[in-house]
Amino acid sequence: MTSPIIIAVDGYSSTGKSTFAKAIASELGYIYIDTGAMYRAVTLLAVRSSLAGAGQTIDFDGLRKILYGKPAVEISFRTSGPGSVSETWLDGENVERSIRTLEISRLVSYVAAEPFVRDYVDNRLREIGAAKGVVMDGRDIGTAVFPDAELKIFMTARPEVRARRRYEEMRSRGRENVTYEDILSNLSERDYIDTHRAVAPLRRADDAVLLDNSDMSVEDQIVWFRNILKERHLCGF
Ligand code: DC
Repeated sequence: MTSPIIIAVDGYSSTGKSTFAKAIASELGYIYIDTGAMYRAVTLLAVRSSLAGAGQTIDFDGLRKILYGKPAVEISFRTSGPGSVSETWLDGENVERSIRTLEISRLVSYVAAEPFVRDYVDNRLREIGAAKGVVMDGRDIGTAVFPDAELKIFMTARPEVRARRRYEEMRSRGRENVTYEDILSNLSERDYIDTHRAVAPLRRADDAVLLDNSDMSVEDQIVWFRNILKERHLCGF
């Protein structure tokens, strides 16, 4: 049995990072961490504190005070039982559903571009990852949070494929009022902000393996992943 490692799964929005990362975590018996959910929870906190909203400039000074205030804000991941997926909690409340709305998706890239927000989230992620045996999905895990991660995967897919997947996912969750066009334009906007921000922009780490899953099923991706582990003699394969 080889010792546990950190697997960083970075890439563009809606490339199926979480589906893939959850599947490989369960394959290895590792913990799965959705790092975007942390940025979403901070964004929800800002909205609920009336520091952010549609047509409003985000009040970052106010947000900094709340985030680093006393008592400290607590964002965590919890599972409700064996085999169940982990869900995001904000100060004792399960916010898994509230952080997935289009309003939060529209604001989150701006909040995530703020250096003090990134510091806050990075510190939490490093605490969680210290024991290894984790799969983290995000934008900067392999470049900034864990630059020494033993395995880095960078995911991409064609924009139309990504928008279609996100659209179907939202419809299946009962969000009848979203349109494919809204989602496509939200994705392009987020790609732009994520790749152009000054701090830890989204980019492929030099040592990351590229996974373009435009024409791959989840099963295809798992087969691909097993081959990578074998090639690199990782995790007992
Ligand atoms: O993966 P997601 O769509 O839930 O991520 C939400 C936002 O958070 C996304 O616009 C970019 C940001 N993010 C980030 O900047 N760094 C991460 N490690 C994860 C997400």
